[in-house]
Order: sequence, then structure tokens, then C-alpha cells
Amino acid sequence: MPSSDVPSNWWRTAVIYEIYVRSFADGNGDGEGDLIGLRERLPYLRDLGVDAIWLTPFYRSPMVDGGYDVADYRDVDPLFGSLADFDAMLAAAHALDIRVIVDIVPNHTSSQHPWFASALAAGPGSLERDRYIFRPSSEEPPNDWESIFGGRAWTRTADGEWYLHLFDPGQPDLNWDNADVRAEFESVLRFWLDRGVDGFRIDVAHGMVKAAGLPSVGHPQQIGLLGREPLPYFDQDGVHEIYRAWRKILDSYPGDRMAVAEAWASTPLRLARYVAPDELHQAFNFDFLAAPWSAAQLRATIDACVEAADSVGAPTTWVLSNHDKARHVTRFGSPGIARAAALLMLALPGAAYLYQGEELGLPEVLDLPDDARQDPVWHRSGGTDPGRDGCRVPLPWDASLPAYGFSTTGRSWLPQPDWASLAASAQQGVPSSFLELYRTALRLRRTFTGPLTWHDSPADVLDFSRGGVRCVVNLSGAAVTVPAGSVVLSSGDLPDGALPPDTAVWLR
Ligand code: NOJ
Repeated sequence: MPSSDVPSNWWRTAVIYEIYVRSFADGNGDGEGDLIGLRERLPYLRDLGVDAIWLTPFYRSPMVDGGYDVADYRDVDPLFGSLADFDAMLAAAHALDIRVIVDIVPNHTSSQHPWFASALAAGPGSLERDRYIFRPSSEEPPNDWESIFGGRAWTRTADGEWYLHLFDPGQPDLNWDNADVRAEFESVLRFWLDRGVDGFRIDVAHGMVKAAGLPSVGHPQQIGLLGREPLPYFDQDGVHEIYRAWRKILDSYPGDRMAVAEAWASTPLRLARYVAPDELHQAFNFDFLAAPWSAAQLRATIDACVEAADSVGAPTTWVLSNHDKARHVTRFGSPGIARAAALLMLALPGAAYLYQGEELGLPEVLDLPDDARQDPVWHRSGGTDPGRDGCRVPLPWDASLPAYGFSTTGRSWLPQPDWASLAASAQQGVPSSFLELYRTALRLRRTFTGPLTWHDSPADVLDFSRGGVRCVVNLSGAAVTVPAGSVVLSSGDLPDGALPPDTAVWLR
């Protein structure tokens, strides 16, 4: 926990910056981001004004799914450094008053985890196999479940049994009815809490418990139902017992430790169950991320999410981009809309999650060469789905250096496009830049308090106040009058004092 800080539910209003470690900063020149590179860039994050960072998995992994295939939950992969590098990074972050959240991946391990190796070796019916979801040999797979990455969710072993993997075959699902599994993850939580982490981001938090009997869904294209309709492998009631146990562990440590769920549920109210007072602290708000640039739809999403979170006393979270989704500059189709969306998000009550590089206005990289792509989604779809590499391209730090300063040698595990004008060095101190917009917004945001109240507004305009700010966003096709008040920040110019289309303003 940062030294100067008094625990006070800091996470309720925090800005948490997601670090996709492999693509953030490379400290040893191998073209892969690592913990030393991250430590060196911490002052940038302090100057940006974030409260915490969330690190994607840096554990030992064969990297079939960018580290979400963990072979050892208690060690750092040599690609990213060592446990000593982690400790040094954590201490340096805390010295700058930046909290650190780490990813935990409890739905599945890597197929190279010692447990899975011993399950294969021990054979059908063994205690070792009971830690995973194996089913007896048969010609057809046990049910019709589909992998989120494409294809079926079952793979056959050499002895004919099937094992379940909701993601890649290199990510076998664990059996959370097995007591070893529960005990192991409680121990892993303690391992990182003892080291001093401030919390966890829980991967596939809705996935660990499957419906009894593993019933078929009944039709294909199941991924399209994610977050919209119930599925027998997601959001089962039994997951909540796991989080009640985890909450007790988190609460037993000093320093206001927290956990945020990557949970997909079919309604905001079902999502709110994950953040009940005796469960997790936050859940990502994917409804906001998925909402189109429409005043009506954004307002409806904001209201539904605030209401659902309020119903259990939890803060809402807001997120526009992450390492799994196309960057929002590209999704919305223009940097101008992305700037306005950022001011909308950062004025809302609750916590906000930023994804590395959004503060630079980075777009999705759409034209990566096929042979550079590494996402299993690309490979499992036979190249029909580009996958998620386009939002994982290493960051441009310095316009004048090879690989834009990402690595000391100019290497970069994914090729970067011409990002000279978007590099942090090119934006620093330029008032009209994305970076300075985010810096100013994060500084001002600290003074905002309380819930939001909507004002009557013209069609396709969002207009609300909360303590410290009035935020007006024009999503219509024509300029609108800016309400009375002094402008403290705007996402674009305000010619003749009017708010142009796709522009947001903060007033006092
Ligand atoms: C969600 C993570 O964000 C994603 O990157 C990963 O592929 C899946 N979970 C599987 O772990």
C-alpha cells in the first residue's frame, strides 16, 4: 500500500490504468515489454495522474494466450523478469503513490501447468484428473459447448478422454468442485497479498462454475450470446460462494485491498451480484464499452449501470478500451469522438479504467502482417477473425528513437505503424494533444464528488452535473449552445462559444 495513504475505499473513485505488460515498455532490449521497463516508466504514470495500475499476467507461461495460460502462479516468466523485478517495481510504484493490481486467472491453467501434466500422466479416473473437467472416452464430445476462441470447447487426450477448455486447448478449465483447486487459489491470493499487491483483476470471473451435468446449449454461435443470454458455462450462481471466501481473505489484510471482476452477465442486475458487499469490490462495465456513440443509448446504459451498482452499494466502473477490444479511436471512427468519450467517462461517478495508449489517442492497428499475428483467435478462426493483436502493439514513447523508444534496441514483438506524431514525446506539453487532455482531466476529476443529475437537454446531447463539474457532450449533427458556466476543459475547440458535434465540455 502506498505509504502516504490512509485506507479509505480508494478504489471507489480511482482511475486505474491497464498495463499490457508485453507491450508497455521493454527494459532489456528483447522487443518484449517487461517489469524493468515498466518500473522505468512509472514517473510517466504518476504525471498522468493515475491512482493504480492493473498488470496483465506476467507469470510463467508458454504464452499461448499472451500469458492468460499460466504454468506457475507464483513466479514471473523470464520474458518479463523475475520476482525480484516484481518486488522492485511494486516498491517503486508505491513510493509514487501508485497502487498495483495483478491479474489472477482461476478459470483455467496452462496445459503446461504441473497439475495438467500429472492429470494426463495419471490417466482416467485419477484424483489428478478431477482437478480439471475430463469426461470419458466417446466418439462425440460430451456436449456442444464452443470455445470463446472458435471451434469446440473439448479436446481429446491420447487415451480418448475429453477435457474442457472454454478458451484455447492450451488452457484447460479447472474443476472448482475440487477442494484442491479452491485451496490452491486461496493460497495464490495470499502469496501476492503477502508481497504487497493492492488487489486483483479476476479473469473470466463468471466462468469457474459450470451448470450441473454440463447441459448442451442447443445451438451454435454461442459466443454471440455472451453477456446477453444465460449460458450453462457462465454466470452460474455457484461462483458467488468463491467470491465470498475470497473477500474474507482480502479483508484480512490491511490497506484496503480490492478485487475487480472481469464478469459477463446477461443483465446489469446479475452483474451487480458480483459486487455485493460481501463479494468483490468492482466489476468491469462492458455495457458502457459496447455502447454505440448515441446519446440515448449511452444515457440508458449509464443509468442502468449506476442503478444496478447502487442497489448493492458498489461503485460503477467505466471502461472504453482494453487488451481484448478494438481501440475506441477506431471503434468510434474518429479521434475527436474518442476525446469527447474520454471526458464523458471521466466525469461520471465511480472508478474509470484506462487502457495503455488511449491517453495517446492510439488507433487499432488494422494492417498487421499475417505472420506477425499471435492471438489464438486469429489462428483458431483460420485467419477470418483478426483477433486482438491490433490493440496490443507496443507503445510509442519517443518519436526520435527506433521502435519509438519501446525498447533499447529498437525491437518490438509486433510491428508498429508510423506513430511518430502520437509518441508521448511528441504530445508532452502540447495543450491540444490527447496526452495533455487526459492529464488535465485526471487532475480535475479528483475534485468531482457525488452522484450525477441529468439536465434537460436538446436531442442527442448529454448534460449532467455532479459536485464540481457540469459535463455536456454533443452527439448531434449540429453545434449547440454551451450552458452558462466557466469552461474548465473541452475535448475540442468551441468556436464562438458553441459546442460543435462530437465534442464534450466541462464547466464549473
Ligand atoms: C479474458 C482476458 O482478458 C483475455 O485476454 C483472455 O484471452 C481470456 N480471458 C482467457 O483467459
